[in-house]
Formats: sequence, structure tokens, C-alpha cells
Amino acid sequence: MVSESATATAAQVLVASNRGPVSYTVGEDGELTARRGGGGLVSGLSAIGDDAGALWVCAALGEGDREAVRRGVGEPGVRMLDIDAGSREGVHAAAYNGIANSVLWFVHHMLYQTPLEPVFGPEFRAQWAAYETYNRAFAEALAAEAAPGAAVLVQDYHLTLVPGMLRELREDLRIGHFSHTPWAPADYFRMLPDDVAEQVLRGMLGADRLGFLTNRWADAFTECCVRVLGGTSGTRIGVHGLGADADFLRERSRREDVEERMATLRGQVGEGRKTIVRVDRTELSKNIVRGLHAYRELLETRPEWRERVVHVAFAYPSRQDLAVYRDYTAEVSRVAEQINTEFGTPGWTPVLLHVDDDFARSLAAYRLADVALVNPIRDGMNLVAKEVPVVSDEGCALVLSREAGAYEELGEDALAVNPYDTSATAEALHAGLSMPAGERAERTKRLAAAATALPPARWFLDQLHALTDDAA
Ligand code: F6P
Repeated sequence: MVSESATATAAQVLVASNRGPVSYTVGEDGELTARRGGGGLVSGLSAIGDDAGALWVCAALGEGDREAVRRGVGEPGVRMLDIDAGSREGVHAAAYNGIANSVLWFVHHMLYQTPLEPVFGPEFRAQWAAYETYNRAFAEALAAEAAPGAAVLVQDYHLTLVPGMLRELREDLRIGHFSHTPWAPADYFRMLPDDVAEQVLRGMLGADRLGFLTNRWADAFTECCVRVLGGTSGTRIGVHGLGADADFLRERSRREDVEERMATLRGQVGEGRKTIVRVDRTELSKNIVRGLHAYRELLETRPEWRERVVHVAFAYPSRQDLAVYRDYTAEVSRVAEQINTEFGTPGWTPVLLHVDDDFARSLAAYRLADVALVNPIRDGMNLVAKEVPVVSDEGCALVLSREAGAYEELGEDALAVNPYDTSATAEALHAGLSMPAGERAERTKRLAAAATALPPARWFLDQLHALTDDAA
């Protein structure tokens, strides 16, 4: 049995995702503390209002969450599933770390390369079985909670099998699925074992409508369906390019705590110096190490920037249960230190690396940045590229990978780079640092307009309406 926290029944609109809008920690005194998260889905769901009978179904992720489920503690409108309850110990870890983050994430971001080659043997099969169990737990919970004819919006690569499973349980529902990642080209996707590739696609095609962040990812999905299954069997496919939340960001970035952090950062950077800012979760797809190499090349080939620029790099922890992520995190620190040792002087630290997550400090860096470096190998969208122009104080040049989803909307006013080409990235950094203030401000204005074209609330409502409107 999957154990769960009880909430209202018969929801009209349901969202399902691995990570939910709230997480719990247990204090030393045994007290549970809830922490609410942000993001597009949170603002989107709040836009439909409390009367709409909305319910968010998510997984219990840590001990705090599991304890909350055991005690029956829950937030209104959220149902947390303890996938590992009863005899299912380890199912969530195998599905989340084993399949979602180590296989599907790697396939869609095209991250496999020697020595990170996939081996689809017995260990993979055991994890795949866990992934099926985990998806079934979600499908069953959604089937139990949904009102007749309700709309269910399933999120991401963790839950690709849910639409098909849910369709079998509840024919009456409107089911949507949205992918927040890129989608792999067919030749790469077919690296997955044939039966698994088929299962993923058929699982998603169980939905009435599928959503992607860009045309490129939607086309890749369609190509996979044609190559693996022979077609998309009539499922509707739409593109919804999530934008930055301008109102929230502008208000939040003017608060006192952000001002304080700006003062600290200014002190650390030093009077009169320019800043190259990057803010990422430390994921292999973010390409942080190559970004550091590009910065090193800039200092090497353009010595006029030495002592005159600081690379402010915020690399926040992500998925530290996986060795490959831990190794990558260590590599980021190692390369940053190397640059500081090689080029640093008593009054100048070339790289300012922070690894502890602090949203107010990120906003402070956005406001101060002269150049923002966003160079992922592949990225579904990349909201940093969209957020910086919105909050920038005096305009910021954007060095942007052409492999980020955001490039489809921001490409014209960004300085585009091939993320593997560190020399070209170094030159783009130089161009950004040298850009006249007037041009920078003009470009930033246009970037901000493009970045906010589809704010989270509208992004969510558009999908919901498209799902319930048969013609869309
Ligand atoms: O950026 C893609 C994405 O799938 C987001 O939609 C999601 O919030 C995140 O990655 C998942 O990250 P985590 O493994 O920390 O939950």
C-alpha cells in the first residue's frame, strides 16, 4: 500500500509532479516545519483560485516529508505520496535517482559520453520496474482523487508512464503531460532499450495533449514517435514557452535583503570592476566547467581584463545522492580555485564561487551583472536567461547557448554561443564586456520584453484551457 496524506476529494484540476510545492523538515524537538517552494507551477496553480478544487499530487522526498505523511500532516490542496511505504522501501530512489535522473535526464540532455556510457543490464531492469511502480502509485492516487471529467496535468520525465496508466483507470479524464526538459533527437533517444523507448512514448501518448517548452523539443518528440511507433496516434501537441514572472521578480529584487547582498557583492568584486555572472544548479547539463575554462581563456587571450573583471559564479547543489553530480560539483570548485591561483593578485580574486543556495543573493547578482553567462549543453528553457534582463539595473549583455530552449525567444538580442566552444565563448564574454552601455540597455529592454511574454500564470492557464478545449 502507498501511504499518503489525506486531503479533499473530487478535485476538478490536478497537477502531478515528483517534487511538490511544499517540503518538511523534522526539528530536534520533533516538530515538523513546512517550507513552500516557488516556480512556474506554484504561481500557475494559484492563478486558478482556491474555489476551483485544485489538488497537487507529489512524492514525499525526504525523511521530513515521509514523517509528515505518517502523521497525516498536510497542506490544503496537496497530497503527498510516500511511495516507499510498506514493502516498497527503495522504490522512489530507484525510480528518481536510477531512471529519471541517471537515464532519462541523460538521454534528453545528450550527456552520455565515455566514460559515462549507459549500460542497460539487470540493474537497469530492476530500476525500471521501480519506475513503473512509482508511476503506477501516482496514476492510482490521481484516479482516486479526480472528479468526473477533471483535468489532470502531469509533469515531466519522472512521470512519463502516468498518462497511459491513468487513462486505463479513468477514461473520463482530460489528461495533459508537460515536459520541462529538452526532448532527445530520435537517434539518441533510441539508445534506450526498444521496449522502454516504446513504453515511454506510449505512456505519454495516453494523454489527450502534450506540452513542450519549444518547437524544437516538440518536433523531436514527434520524430521519436514516428521512428519508434510509426506516429503520434492523434495526441495533440502544443508549445508553451514558460516566461519570467516580471511582477514577482521586480518586487522581490527591490527588497532590503537583496540591497544588503548587493552591497556585500560590490565589496567582494571591488570598485570599478565589471562582473560576469552565472547562476545555476550544479548539473552536468549546465556546462559550468566549460564556462570557467572560457573565462580562463578570456584572461589569457585578453590580458587587458585582468584585475578589471570578476566572474561571480553561483553553483547551487543539486542531486547530491548521485556520485556523478558530486564529482561534477568538486570539479567546479577545483577549476575555480585553479583560476584564482593562476591569475589572482593580492587585491583581485578572479572567480567568486558560491555554492550555498541564496535566492536574494542571486537576485543581487542579476541586478549588478554586466554580462550574464548562460551556456548549457542543452536546457529545456533556462529561466536565468529570462530573469536577468528583467531585474538588471543598468542593462546586461547575455551570452547564451544556442542549445538552451530560451534561445528560440531570446536569440536575436543575445550573444549566441556553441556551448562546447570555449574559445568562442571567451570571445562572446569579451564582446559582452566591451558592449557600449547604450546598446546593452537597448538589448536588455528587448530581452526583458521577450522573456516576460508568457508569465507563469498565463503559461499554466493556456495549457489548462487547451486541454479542456478539444479544438486546441
Ligand atoms: O529543469 C527541469 C526540471 O525537470 C524541472 O521541471 C524540475 O523542477 C527539475 O528539473 C527537477 O529537479 P529535482 O531533481 O531537483 O527535483
